[in-house]
Amino acid sequence: SESELDARITAAKATLGDRLKILGHFYQRDEIVKYADFVGDSFMLAQAAKDHPEAEAFVFCGVHFMAETADILSQNHQSVILPNLAAGCSMADMATIDQVEEAWEQLTTVLGTSDDDQAELIPVTYMNSSAAIKAFCGRNGGIVCTSSNAATVLEWAFERGKRVIFFPDQHLGRNTAKAMGMTEEQMPLWRPYLPLGGNTQQQLIDAKVILWNGFCSVHKRFTVAQINKARADFDNVQVIVHPECPAPVVEAADGVGSTEYIRKAIEAGKPGDVFAVGTEINLVNRLQAQHPEMTIFCLDPVVCPCSTMYRIHPAYLAWVLEALVAGQIPNQISVEPTVAADAEVALERMLAARP
Ligand code: 13P
Ligand code: SF4
Repeated sequence: SESELDARITAAKATLGDRLKILGHFYQRDEIVKYADFVGDSFMLAQAAKDHPEAEAFVFCGVHFMAETADILSQNHQSVILPNLAAGCSMADMATIDQVEEAWEQLTTVLGTSDDDQAELIPVTYMNSSAAIKAFCGRNGGIVCTSSNAATVLEWAFERGKRVIFFPDQHLGRNTAKAMGMTEEQMPLWRPYLPLGGNTQQQLIDAKVILWNGFCSVHKRFTVAQINKARADFDNVQVIVHPECPAPVVEAADGVGSTEYIRKAIEAGKPGDVFAVGTEINLVNRLQAQHPEMTIFCLDPVVCPCSTMYRIHPAYLAWVLEALVAGQIPNQISVEPTVAADAEVALERMLAARP
């Protein structure tokens, strides 16, 4: 039962004390968030793993790529635990390292090598990708970004290269590049399995940002029609969306940003304000519960949770914590050292590029 699980988690957490830090993403259900020592967006949680060398173990309540990142940025003696190993991210799975290497080979053939100090192509990967892809970026002069620093990271890339290939979220890539003034023609889509990703050589030569054909199945559900309806229902509504939403949705919104940006925008609201939010339902419902003086609702009337985030159930949390108390390290996420070293290069470039 819920109270039994609550007692087990609280007891194990008390026994482990400062040796343990529980990290929780904003999309986690409330029954998990209440135990987290740190709650944040993917950037903040990566930073938290780096900034707590005193902890022996991080229990990461989020998805697999976030736990991998925590393992890479934390110290060697620290372990990172994912309570349910089935908590992946369907977007991250849309780019495999084999596909990325294949695309890179084709692109280097088409673009050739640079004869000046600007590289022909810089690989940029969204945090929502495997450690292997982050490592690929680290090895090839590239960098990682999150939804909170994508513009800064693209600027970093354009200081060093003529073009970017952006993995795996086409929407974050497109929204960021559009905001920087690039046109649709400069952003061809790369479809793995098609020669040249389904493009002509000339399209790739003319490209500024080559967009990998990935997307988030939660955020791609949001529509301009939903925004229009929210505006018809409430004349004072403020629409804020995550940059994983399609470009027309982002353009029709009043604000766009990471989960932390969304949280801050609502924190800055005043009684009577109305917010229509285009992101995961657990975060939206929690913000409404914390702010009964405002009206805060999800743009999508059909509840849209991230099904893999939801796989972190309190029963798994209780199980991993009790195993830690018993001296075991359950469900450890351990990135292979050579991959971790290269991925860390790309992650550290991101941390240093932050304005
Ligand atoms: P944030 O970086 O905004 O936390 O987003 C991560 C994510 O998975 C959004 O779907
Ligand atoms: Fe991945 Fe989308 Fe879930 Fe974020 S909301 S973890 S991008 S599937």
